[in-house]
Amino acid sequence: MDRLEIRRPDDWHVHFREGAVLRAVVPFTARQFARAIVMPNLVPPVTDGARARAYRDEIGAALPPDSGFEPLMTCYLTDGLDPAVMEDDVFTAAKLYPAHATTNSAHGVTDIAALSPVLERMQRIGKPLLIHGEVTHPEEDVADREAVFVETVLTGLRRDFPELRIVLEHVTTADGVAFVEEADGPTAATITPHHLVIDRNDLLVGGIRPHLYCLPVAKRRRHRDALRRAAVSGSPRFFLGTDTAPHAVSDKESACGCAGIFCAPTALEVYAEVFDEEGALDRLEAFASLNGPAFYGLPPNEARIVLERSPNEGPGPLDVGDETILPFRAGERLEWRLGGS
Ligand code: NCD
Ligand code: ZN
Repeated sequence: MDRLEIRRPDDWHVHFREGAVLRAVVPFTARQFARAIVMPNLVPPVTDGARARAYRDEIGAALPPDSGFEPLMTCYLTDGLDPAVMEDDVFTAAKLYPAHATTNSAHGVTDIAALSPVLERMQRIGKPLLIHGEVTHPEEDVADREAVFVETVLTGLRRDFPELRIVLEHVTTADGVAFVEEADGPTAATITPHHLVIDRNDLLVGGIRPHLYCLPVAKRRRHRDALRRAAVSGSPRFFLGTDTAPHAVSDKESACGCAGIFCAPTALEVYAEVFDEEGALDRLEAFASLNGPAFYGLPPNEARIVLERSPNEGPGPLDVGDETILPFRAGERLEWRLGGS
């Protein structure tokens, strides 16, 4: 198959940042996707409706004319957050970061048990809980943090809030996949393009590649392959979420490089490549355009996009003021190209 026409997809996990970076990166997402779940880990984070509306306006002002793109806003959960905030209709969902799990998570939750009133409210009104699923105990190995979170936190959360809609964001392990497949109640996971492609050898063998560093960190090959199986399985519990997370090259290529991969410019092309390699192009539409809306209770998009097999060189670096941001697969061969609609 050399040409694939599918409903316009959505991205269920993006970081747009603010200011000049936001203005530079938003068009890459709007080019491919009709809607996106916008992560709230700004500095300071998005924790109330007024801030979320202002942020939504900032995104709107950065959109190309007639893009039709709709940002779906999320609330950053903090200790002591008023459950009433969840009722605000600006919020499509809320994001749970364990404190210090990842970039800009210093205000994250330190005691998930204390969050019960918020989670009860979310369960009652049907607002999805999006989870960065890693424990943060200093003694826990970075490669085990997701599996330990699943075992020691997520399983209990699933049991205690049986009707809560839970998304394990950017799942990276066979353990996370198995949890999502087997859990009772409304449970799903997003999968990034890069975690479908790289394993930790790509990150560390033959030299350290800071531009492939993100959290949760890429794992062993067998975990990557479990993600590939889940993505192409056709299960409605797995859907597209790029976790596109732009950082300046100077912050990535540093003695303490920060976590995040700017994958928006090549996301759909890379997903198409993976589904093609797995002989599953006929399932890409479910993963990219149907499963996410179904989980969030939204209609799928009516517009359509075309992907063509057309080998090309990935995009180059993006200049933002004095800084540069490097897209995932920049300057590397891509097999697929996003065509007109
Ligand atoms: C994200 C970021 O930079 O905001 N980084 C990342 O490595 N994925 C935060 C996150 O999603 O963990
Ligand atoms: Zn993220």
